[in-house]
Amino acid sequence: MKLPEHLTIKDGHLMIGSHDCNDLAESYGTPLYVTDEKRIRENFTRYNSALKKHYNNVRMLYAAKANGNMAVLKTFADLGAGADVFSSGELHLALLAGMNPENLLFNGSSKTKEDLELAVDKGVRVSVDSFDELAQLSEVAKAKGKDVEISFRINPAIDVPTHPKIATGLATSKFGIPADQILDAYRAALEADNIDPVGMHCHIGSQILEVLPFAKAAEIMVKIAGKLTDIGVKLKFIDIGGGLGIPYHHDSDNAPTPEEYADAVMPVFLEGIARIGIKPELWVEPGRNLMGDTTILLTGVNSVKTAHKKFVNVDAGFNLLLRPAMYDSYHEVIVANRADQKPELEYTVTGPICESGDIIAADRMLPHVERGDLIAVLDCGAYGYSMASQYNCRPRCPEIMVNGDRSAYMRRGETVIDILNTMADLPWVEK
Ligand code: LLP
Repeated sequence: MKLPEHLTIKDGHLMIGSHDCNDLAESYGTPLYVTDEKRIRENFTRYNSALKKHYNNVRMLYAAKANGNMAVLKTFADLGAGADVFSSGELHLALLAGMNPENLLFNGSSKTKEDLELAVDKGVRVSVDSFDELAQLSEVAKAKGKDVEISFRINPAIDVPTHPKIATGLATSKFGIPADQILDAYRAALEADNIDPVGMHCHIGSQILEVLPFAKAAEIMVKIAGKLTDIGVKLKFIDIGGGLGIPYHHDSDNAPTPEEYADAVMPVFLEGIARIGIKPELWVEPGRNLMGDTTILLTGVNSVKTAHKKFVNVDAGFNLLLRPAMYDSYHEVIVANRADQKPELEYTVTGPICESGDIIAADRMLPHVERGDLIAVLDCGAYGYSMASQYNCRPRCPEIMVNGDRSAYMRRGETVIDILNTMADLPWVEK
């Protein structure tokens, strides 16, 4: 199986950076999320340079939902990135990580009044998703005597080749302002108290393995930008979202590189803005492409069972990695302590959750597997831990970061006591 540079095989063991996965599992226990900081930096630098080669006026907003751990956010802050934040929680963490409020965009289709107040207080731009939200934001900003810069989330009505649950720019999607309302939305914003419409925003979907839809979205955005300029909107930024996929099937997915993405999108964007005669910043919001391959999930084998097929029962299930259950996603798995052995038998790797859909990897050829072995699930850095739950009263596992020969917790594992501590005794039930 093709492996990215930070994953290697040495003496039969899978290594992440300079760490033997078996030693990490021994020291920290399983299940365990392991993130390679160096890989984050490489991924960011590559994506950023690919775009900046075409246009220097680019701002990278890491999509914090992919993995919102403080250590990850601080790494991105150190690289000069901002963030796409989708909740007050993500906004607070991005600021605590040291990101400049100027480099954040508060996205979301259902914000509370408190969310809007926080954005105004902190001077963070808001991507507005409805006329109703615009009215409330205007009231909030006016009450505080402050102005707030906004974009609207545009619905570009684009069909993209990905799982329907993560195609976010369809005409039928819950996100964004439909085409026939966009000009009215900006007119309303130009007139609204304490609102300054300076941006446009869209996001067409996630795990997209073709560049054409991105180029199409850029074309739609610049077309609208021209009309907005005509009605007096002074655009400071155009945000084309994230969405570039990664090759989860290491040997067969043909995933576009960031350079191919940039080569497809940037000429369309640059010609478009040149035609209008404006020079807005280009904002992008990648999540998966920066984080996906940086992280593996190490999970221990509790037992092996032969029934109508061979099951490998491991200690991580969809409580820790929801993607296979939710989107039928594919993740490569490697037996980390037999990484140089030939595949011998077909196994299905299943988690400990009480649902038959709790399958991490179905029908995979693996070397002979035994109780006590260690399975590494690859490409878990985006939407892995961030979508984990405590289902079946299973405390969420730790996350560690490795950097050179160092390793450290970036989040300790939860305990059952942590779970219990959020529960309250009912006053009418005797102790
Ligand atoms: N910007 C906005 C407004 C978004 O909604 C998203 C992702 C992104 C940026 C980042 O997209 P990316 O570059 O990571 O594709 N849980 C799903 C993915 C959901 C993505 C939702 N929005 C999964 O595990 O595949």
